[in-house]
Amino acid sequence: MKIIGLSGNVKRPSRTASLVEAIVSVARDRLGSKGQVIELVDAAPTLFRALRSDQLDAEGRAIIDAVEAADVLVVASPVYRASYTGALKHLFDLVDYRALTGKRVILAATGGTPLHGLMIEHQLRPLFGFFNALTLPTAVYATEADFADYGIANPAVLDRIERAVSELAHILPAADQVTTAGVSSHRPARIAANA
Ligand SMILES: Cc1cc2nc3c(=O)[nH]c(=O)nc-3n(C[C@H](O)[C@H](O)[C@H](O)COP(=O)(O)O)c2cc1C
Repeated sequence: MKIIGLSGNVKRPSRTASLVEAIVSVARDRLGSKGQVIELVDAAPTLFRALRSDQLDAEGRAIIDAVEAADVLVVASPVYRASYTGALKHLFDLVDYRALTGKRVILAATGGTPLHGLMIEHQLRPLFGFFNALTLPTAVYATEADFADYGIANPAVLDRIERAVSELAHILPAADQVTTAGVSSHRPARIAANA
């Protein structure tokens, strides 16, 4: 069982990266699995060398391969201009459209205002709908006020992480039965051809 955390932050230090680290750490402990966090501040300069997946160099290919091979993804972004960062979107534009079918995904985000918490529901969750991934019902949203010195300071955020990871543990056996072939055969031909 391999967990990959993806943090859409394009600067460091990063509240979003702290949030992803915390979620991956709880999931790793609960599931006894391996976990790794990829921050876009590191990965984006490599990935932006490729505008399409067939242009990826070995370093970029290794990042995309790690995402595609993960059993569980924890995907988070700072809210930028009412959405997730362009750097995070570029990574997913390079992921094969079949590769995330049936994968369990925990969604999270950080923002300056609570008013943009639904960015997760309106922007991030539909991205994984496209990929036929299984997003967990509980998402984790935290604002700048929930952090102190870039660490999580609000116990309510930690409770929310526990809830999301509990759902992950609950859903694992059922999700294992989802097959790539069975789901991807329902893709509209035009999407498959252009992906
Ligand atoms: C370019 C930019 C755009 C932002 N746009 C929004 C926004 O639309 N809504 C919001 O709530 N916060 C916005 N913020 C605030 C960040 O989402 C917030 O500070 C976040 O926690 C930063 O995460 P990081 O520490 O991982 O970089 C923006 C910040 C920047 C730098």
